[in-house]
Amino acid sequence: MNEMIKELKELDEAVQALDPDMNLLEAIAARRSVRGFLDREVPPETMRRMFDIARQAPSNCNVQPWKVYVASGALKDRLRQQMYDNTANGVPPNPDYEYRGDFRDEHRVRQVECAVALYSQMGIGRHDREGRMRAVLRNFEFFDAPHIAFIGMNPEFGTTVAVDVGMFAQTLMLTMVAFGLHSCPMGTMRNYPDLVREAFDVTDGTKILFGISFGYEDTAVPANATRTTRAPLDENFEFRSD
Ligand SMILES: Cc1cc2nc3c(=O)[nH]c(=O)nc-3n(C[C@H](O)[C@H](O)[C@H](O)COP(=O)(O)O)c2cc1C
Repeated sequence: MNEMIKELKELDEAVQALDPDMNLLEAIAARRSVRGFLDREVPPETMRRMFDIARQAPSNCNVQPWKVYVASGALKDRLRQQMYDNTANGVPPNPDYEYRGDFRDEHRVRQVECAVALYSQMGIGRHDREGRMRAVLRNFEFFDAPHIAFIGMNPEFGTTVAVDVGMFAQTLMLTMVAFGLHSCPMGTMRNYPDLVREAFDVTDGTKILFGISFGYEDTAVPANATRTTRAPLDENFEFRSD
């Protein structure tokens, strides 16, 4: 047994020695939502290492409330088919957590700009209902990603602790960039949480908040030319000293 632990430790050290050397600012600048992936799986040791790094994210009282279920291979294919079929056939979503999505004022403006940035790259016009449906369905095809992480927590923690889960998610997505991968955070992945619970035998009360599809970017996919902007600093930030 001791021998086995020693071997695992050595293996861990060997994997860590292969960590990429990317600076944090480069990773922040390079991260963006990617919506088209190559048919190429992430090697298992890279997969484990990325999640191992991301779990260093902070959390209230270090409770580490996140629960993460990563689907690959045949399981991912099955979930993709089920979610696609549900969406295409109009099965009503059954999210665990409410998402309002009816933004107003400057938030509505940003929401529309974001949709226009994506849809114009995808060649979808304002009144193209079929095109929009196609774009929605791409979510449930996981944008062809070889892997998808479903991320949840126990709802008893409440909103303030859900913040921790967001911090974990961004840490994970930046780590992925450092390893040459890209991702798309996906609120749409909260639509059919029962399928996730069934696939991963979840019985501990975890409710699904969102998903993250990830893998190697397919740069030939038009949607991946999408670039979003950010509001000027002074719109959302105030710095005062008296
Ligand atoms: C929690 C969360 C949920 C999101 N859900 C979706 C989604 O379901 N589908 C999608 O295409 N993009 C989704 N996005 C991506 C946002 O549209 C994207 O982050 C935003 O437009 C900024 O663009 P960027 O990520 O490329 O910087 C989501 C982002 C977050 C943080």
